[in-house]
Amino acid sequence: MRFSSLVERIGGQGAEAWQVHFDATRRAEAGEDVIFFSIGDPDFATPAPIVERAVAALRAGDTHYTELEGRLELRAAIADRFAKRAGVAVAADNVVVVPGTQNALFAASLCLLDHGDEVLGFDPMYVTYEATLRAGGADLVPVPTGPGFRIDVERVAAAITPRTKAIAFATPSNPTGVVATAEELNGLAGLAVEHDLWVIADEVYADLIYEGEHRSIAGLDGMAERAVTVSSLSKSHAMTGWRCGWLIGPRDLADHVARLTLPMLYGIPGFVQEAAIEALAMPVDEMRATYRRRRDLACKVLSAELPVLSPEGGMYVMVDVRGRGLSSGEFSLALLERKGVSALDAGAFGPNAEGWLRLAFTIGEERLEEGCHRIVEMARELPVVD
Ligand SMILES: Cc1ncc(COP(=O)(O)O)c(C=O)c1O
Repeated sequence: MRFSSLVERIGGQGAEAWQVHFDATRRAEAGEDVIFFSIGDPDFATPAPIVERAVAALRAGDTHYTELEGRLELRAAIADRFAKRAGVAVAADNVVVVPGTQNALFAASLCLLDHGDEVLGFDPMYVTYEATLRAGGADLVPVPTGPGFRIDVERVAAAITPRTKAIAFATPSNPTGVVATAEELNGLAGLAVEHDLWVIADEVYADLIYEGEHRSIAGLDGMAERAVTVSSLSKSHAMTGWRCGWLIGPRDLADHVARLTLPMLYGIPGFVQEAAIEALAMPVDEMRATYRRRRDLACKVLSAELPVLSPEGGMYVMVDVRGRGLSSGEFSLALLERKGVSALDAGAFGPNAEGWLRLAFTIGEERLEEGCHRIVEMARELPVVD
């Protein structure tokens, strides 16, 4: 039997990046002592008031179909929070609630990108971007980031062709933890206006900032009609499994995405939306402080032997394992085999990050410290080569 060409476009590296994690899971299930740095899923429980709100909604019978675009109260809360943070005039009509940032990216891709279009992403980029941005038939053009994995606006400018339709990126970035500066965002916004491009900004880690300040490109001049911001409660409120995220964009795009939810989703559960309303009213300072401590601890232990990129935001530390005679893919496999540590090969996020490992600091401090020591040990056992 024959499939559509879509199945080709949604295959690829995304799933393979986590192979080491799946192997590690099997080992842990078989009783091995494995330390996991491989998954960006907060280890905290979802805060109790959020859970209680969902339970109360369920008990009250909130188990039916819901509004396709999401409940007005939730969309208004999302719009209100974003308007204040980004300094931009958005209202509930600019917001569509979908199951996570991932779904918002997918919806944006389907509503904005056609066969023959090009979309620029930054190398390295989150592994699902390839399948997501190519789903509708567009070509993804990876633009290498510059030193320190920073956005290189000149390279972005040089990659623009008459086919370019959009730029997609995350700030803070996964895997690098780099937070886009005002200058970088201004540069991108200038290019977007000049070449009439959409900009898809993934802000799923915007609440987890340790250095500098999170800025939304949507707040810059000329961006109101071309900025699409996607985010969720997954990382900020330890709610990955609830699948509650959103897309914020110009009204006409929000209308198209809302229409897409009819054939694709038919709305998301009411009790999840109630929980989300509760979550949006809660501070996340405590979780951020915990992540910051872990970040500092990981960087301190690892940097005794290996160069690290201390993340400005997000939940990942990048460790440079070049010069040890192994590719980062080989290093990550050997690390699991020899030391029982599961860390992703950052090279799977783009060739520009070849030679680096991505460590998610989504584990408690004791295990985190132990895991980092094991990585240092492994590095010390390998000959240093040029
Ligand atoms: C950059 C980035 N975007 C999107 C997602 C997906 O997030 P969500 O759970 O909101 O779909 C992730 C998850 O790791 C991510 O790292």
